[in-house]
Amino acid sequence: MTHARSLHGILLAGGTGSRLYPITAGTNKHLLPVYDKPMIYYSLSTLMLAGIRDVVLITNPGDVDRFERLLGDGSHLGLRITYRTQAQARGIAEAFVLASDIVEGYPVALALGDNLLYGSGFTGLLQSAVLRLTLSGGAVIFGAKVENPREYGVAQVDAEGRVTGLEEKPAEPKSPWAVPGLYFYDARVVDLARALSPSARGELEITDLNRRYLESGELHLMRFPRGMTWLDTGSPDQLAEAADFVRTLERRTGLMVGCVEEIAWRQKFISDDTLMVAAERWGKTPYAHYLRALPHDPAL
Ligand code: DAU
Repeated sequence: MTHARSLHGILLAGGTGSRLYPITAGTNKHLLPVYDKPMIYYSLSTLMLAGIRDVVLITNPGDVDRFERLLGDGSHLGLRITYRTQAQARGIAEAFVLASDIVEGYPVALALGDNLLYGSGFTGLLQSAVLRLTLSGGAVIFGAKVENPREYGVAQVDAEGRVTGLEEKPAEPKSPWAVPGLYFYDARVVDLARALSPSARGELEITDLNRRYLESGELHLMRFPRGMTWLDTGSPDQLAEAADFVRTLERRTGLMVGCVEEIAWRQKFISDDTLMVAAERWGKTPYAHYLRALPHDPAL
């Protein structure tokens, strides 16, 4: 049973992926491999770690069947995945309008399908974000210190850690705090998104939506501690770096990053039996072997 006010998730996997041409001319960017699994697994993992079981995946009309082939209705992961389409890349904030028939009236988390988040304490951080949203409403965004903030949404922060300003891809960033592609909003988000106007580049900007919450004093920023890693995978180098990162971690520890079946099982969204059925689908691969071993290895 879905609780009346349970947090819903939107996974955004549209756009042209033009920074990755010619790789993305024939396929959707979010289905490209990041080492041993499709890119979309990592952002789906993030939503699942936040406890979300109702997910709307938004992609281009021609790509829906590919995602359906990969993720189906989500029941093997204990999820309810619904699909909606975005005809053109009219901006990240359009996601709330496109998914409005499902998410209206609910608090919503939005994850960009090309972002990868990993770190010790990440699940706890997500729980704090959800708790904050439940208790106070408004919006919760994150801040990640980066060397190249001009490529992202950037938050200016005062000495107490409060946001004082937001800019999208500023030529001269006023802070090193980039805003990663994971956002939590209260149930007013659909109405606020509907009221946005397209920016100079013709998009409904997520930064403009966040600014609405900032203007009403309801935007909360949680800065990532040093142990958190945020990668986006939109360019060939970023894609290769993300694959290297996952490969290094997985080979060193024997634990997987972004393994959606494992997370479903650890979150108790699925039983041991369902995990075994899910493993069956991946044949005799190391990925399937890893899933099969999970319930039997007390160290894992
Ligand atoms: O990665 C975090 C950054 O993502 C934020 O810091 C920025 O504030 C935010 O605007 C966004 O910047 P990007 O330049 O990375 O956005 P991009 O156009 O690459 O799209 C991000 C993801 O959203 C990507 O997976 C494609 C998808 N997307 C994007 C747009 C504009 C859609 O599905 N539809 C769209 O209309």
